[in-house]
Amino acid sequence: MPDGKLVAQNRRHTRFSDCKEMIHTVNELVAKNEIAPSTFQIFVRAPEIARKREAGQFVVLRVHGPGERFPLTIVSSDPDEGTIELIFQAVGKSTEILAAHRVGDSILDLVGPLGNPTEIHDYGRCVVIGGGYGMAPVIPIAQALRDAGNTLIGINGARSRENVILEDRLREICERVEVCTDDGSYGRKGFVTDALRDIIEAGEQIDMVLAVGPTPMMRAIADLTREYEIKTIVSLNPIMVDGTGMCGGCRVEVGGETKFACVDGPEFDGHLVDFEMLMKRQKMYDHLVSDGSRQYTCQLREAKNNG
Ligand code: NAD
Ligand code: FES
Repeated sequence: MPDGKLVAQNRRHTRFSDCKEMIHTVNELVAKNEIAPSTFQIFVRAPEIARKREAGQFVVLRVHGPGERFPLTIVSSDPDEGTIELIFQAVGKSTEILAAHRVGDSILDLVGPLGNPTEIHDYGRCVVIGGGYGMAPVIPIAQALRDAGNTLIGINGARSRENVILEDRLREICERVEVCTDDGSYGRKGFVTDALRDIIEAGEQIDMVLAVGPTPMMRAIADLTREYEIKTIVSLNPIMVDGTGMCGGCRVEVGGETKFACVDGPEFDGHLVDFEMLMKRQKMYDHLVSDGSRQYTCQLREAKNNG
């Protein structure tokens, strides 16, 4: 394990300063909300991670014995309460199992904080862009950018009105926010790239763009900003296993060099990322994910039928 990384495993944890009834299970869910269809916000008791984490860092979770490990960005933390906030969409077996956790249940393994904190500079005027539930990682980074003196414009894109998340929090941080939906059911109709193009073409000074969301979205944004030579940071989401640079699962090509997103990123210069290769690697295990999900859905159905 590299220096400075903290590992928190599931265990009983006693805070000696508290009275004897106050025994907390580390990794316990203390709150859970469904904030959009199949999209969940959870608060997890993980005091050491809550104390150490910085904007841009993530945790790697495992939710069942033989299961995969997967990363989730830490959206916020409350060091006093000892909790971290995570937001995820139930899209495969592991995230469906996590979505089935109730308040009081514990996550099997939770490791973090991992990844490099975002490099925060006073760039000037930045556009921060979140696509779908990729909006979740944008919030802590946008907050840190604003705290460093930047002025922010937010773009929040989603398929449709019901999928728009964290709009209020983005509005609290940004000078103004544009919401786009693919179907036009809320905000302007179109992709986040349409909103960004209009801002750039209106002649506004933009010193930096941050984008987090589906890989085709990040690629489209990088292609657009390259035309205008605007610095662009993207947060990559390749397959991750250990999250500590050992397995090679998160290998990406950036500027012709091999990088591991977990230890060299997850944020990179969007103009240097080989998005084609990233997308190919993201699809490598699709068949296993869908087989696992199908099997899990059958097990759930069987469990329900058996009462
Ligand atoms: P989605 O497919 O609904 O897309 C969200 C928005 O992104 C769209 O409304 C549109 O505005 C924009 N978009 C999508 N494709 C585009 C394209 N080709 N060109 C321009 N704009 C485009 O998103 P979703 O289903 O909510 O999925 C969210 C994605 O974010 C997932 O792929 C997930 O892996 C990714 N994500 C990434 C991170 C990270 O740290 N990098 C974190 C969380 C989620
Ligand atoms: Fe294994 Fe990055 S997740 S090397």
